[in-house]
Amino acid sequence: MRQEQQLKQRAADQVLTHVESGMIVGLGAGSTAILAVRGLAGMLARGELAEIEGIPCSSVIEAEARRLGIPLTTLEEHPVIDLTFDGADEVDPALNLIKGGGGALLREKIVAQASRREIIIVDESKLSPALGTHWAVPVEVIPFGWRTQAAYLEGLGGLPILRTRDDGAPFITDQGNLILDCNFGSISDPVSLGARLDARTGIVAHGLFLGLATDLIVAGATGIKHLKCETAEK
Ligand code: A5P
Repeated sequence: MRQEQQLKQRAADQVLTHVESGMIVGLGAGSTAILAVRGLAGMLARGELAEIEGIPCSSVIEAEARRLGIPLTTLEEHPVIDLTFDGADEVDPALNLIKGGGGALLREKIVAQASRREIIIVDESKLSPALGTHWAVPVEVIPFGWRTQAAYLEGLGGLPILRTRDDGAPFITDQGNLILDCNFGSISDPVSLGARLDARTGIVAHGLFLGLATDLIVAGATGIKHLKCETAEK
C-alpha cells in the first residue's frame, strides 16, 4: 500500500473511535471517507457498534453504504446529525477547508451544517498555510447561464475551468449542476470571498468550508494528530 493510502487508512480508523452506538452518522465522500464507511460497516458486522444510521453525502457513498449493509436515513427524518466524518482537499491552520474534489460539495456542506461534530480526516499532504495554495475552489453552478458565472468568477480574480469527465463531457453533480474549478491562488480573505460567492444567484454551493469543521484528524509519517476548533459554528 502506498504511504498516502496508509495515512488515509489511519485517519479513517482513528475517526471511528469517536462513533458510538445509537448515533446518526454523516457519511462523507471521497477516497478517505469511503475507508471510514467500510470500517464502520465492519464494526457493525462484528457487533462492535449497533443502531447506527448513516446519511450519505453522495450517490456513490450511498451505493457503497447500501452494498455494505449500513442502515441509512435522511435529514428529513433526522435533521440533526451526531457526528459526520469527511475528507478535505486543503486545510488551513484555522481548520477552514476547501472541499469538493469529488464533486459532492453541496450535499457535504448541508450535512456539515447539520452536524454537531464535523470531523475532517486527512493525510498530512492536505495541510496548507492558506486556502487556495494547492487547490482550486470548486464552485457548483446551475447549468442555465453558467458562462455568466464563469465571468463573475473571473471578475473576482479567479481562473475558472469547467470540470469535465474523462470522456470530455461536462461533469454533472448529484443535483444535475456543473462545477467550475476556480483557481484564486492563495486566498488572503476566504470569508470575504465566501460571502461574494454565497451572494451570487446561480451559484448553488462553493467549496470553501469556513467554520464548519469541529475537529481535524491528520495522519502523518510521525503519527496522528487530533486538533479541535472551538469556534466552529454549531
Ligand atoms: C468530495 O466532494 C470531496 O469534498 C472530498 O471529501 C475531498 O475531495 C477529499 O477527497 P479525498 O479523501 O479523496 O482526498
